[in-house]
Amino acid sequence: MRFLITAFTSALAVCGITAAGPLERRASLQQVTNFGANTSGTKMYIYVPNKLASNPAVVVAIHYCTGTANAYYAGTPYASLAEKYGFVVIYPESPYSGTCWDVSSRAALTHNGGADSNSIVNMVSYVLDKYNGDKSRVFVTGSSSGAMMTNVLAATYPDVFAAGIVYAGVPATCFYTGTVNGWNSTCSQGKLDLTQEYWANQARNAYPGYNGPRPRMRIHHGTADTTLNVQNYYETIKQWTGVFGYSTTASKTYPNMPASPYTRYIFGPNVEGVLGSGVTHDIKIFGDADMEWFGFTVSATSRRLKLLLDWLGWNGNRQGRRETG
Ligand SMILES: *[C@@H]1O[C@H](CO)[C@@H](O)[C@H](O)[C@H]1NC(C)=O
Ligand SMILES: *[C@@H]1O[C@H](CO)[C@@H](O)[C@H](O)[C@H]1NC(C)=O
Repeated sequence: MRFLITAFTSALAVCGITAAGPLERRASLQQVTNFGANTSGTKMYIYVPNKLASNPAVVVAIHYCTGTANAYYAGTPYASLAEKYGFVVIYPESPYSGTCWDVSSRAALTHNGGADSNSIVNMVSYVLDKYNGDKSRVFVTGSSSGAMMTNVLAATYPDVFAAGIVYAGVPATCFYTGTVNGWNSTCSQGKLDLTQEYWANQARNAYPGYNGPRPRMRIHHGTADTTLNVQNYYETIKQWTGVFGYSTTASKTYPNMPASPYTRYIFGPNVEGVLGSGVTHDIKIFGDADMEWFGFTVSATSRRLKLLLDWLGWNGNRQGRRETG
């Protein structure tokens, strides 16, 4: 057993989990002031873990209205999960006085249009360059206004993000007002009940002519949300199921997942919903389930296990071996 643990630790080292270099300030929230074009004055903070992977993934974690980078860093599990999985977390900070995100201007809703969405993508490029990041594993999540921005980024930069997780937001373009940092109460109050095709086209039109892969999306919402009416859950499901060509009727339903009172709905391999019965806008973040959606737990574990077995000289046909972990 001791030998196995030692071997596993060695295999982790082979996988590129390395200790911090002495010159970098890691494992704390740091502001970056030179990330490139900053069209809207958005601030950038990052958390680089002590155990940074050699080709790290990037998770963008976006705060709610009235929030800050520091509040979201302190109030969510992503920094401690970064220590476990070796990725870099970017915490952007809104430049506006109410600290909501601009998800309402035409610029914000357009690929390379400028505004907050463009600044956040510039932060991603900075981290990929500086930390030799893995371009194929860039993820985004956020709460409330940050969840709206998550949908906006998934629509405007499908070439950048591999997956997104939305905690109580609205579909991309639903908050359009034609002004910067506007508030669209028709959308927030859930008065829009539009077709799947309408919402899918809104997402497609955010980056006209784009035909490449698009991020897998998991959408969380509470049925008792009085800030952003639950209708926004159904409209967002229409948007991404429409983009992927799925039915809006779930193909599988799992009650009490990830936990009661939530139900997990599978619409296809790239779209899932997590709806909390009686849950308000104050919605719970499921950090471990997020890691699974972003592909850290399943694939990373089986990759390490395979490396460990290769290293031990075992092959897949050997009998009497049980795979664990
Ligand atoms: C972006 O703008 C904000 C507000 O003016 C400033 O604090 C920050 O340093 C700027 N960052 C970059 C990279 O220009
Ligand atoms: C709110 O958004 C909807 C579409 O999402 C749009 O039809 C409506 O005009 C917007 N309201 C305002 C005040 O701009």
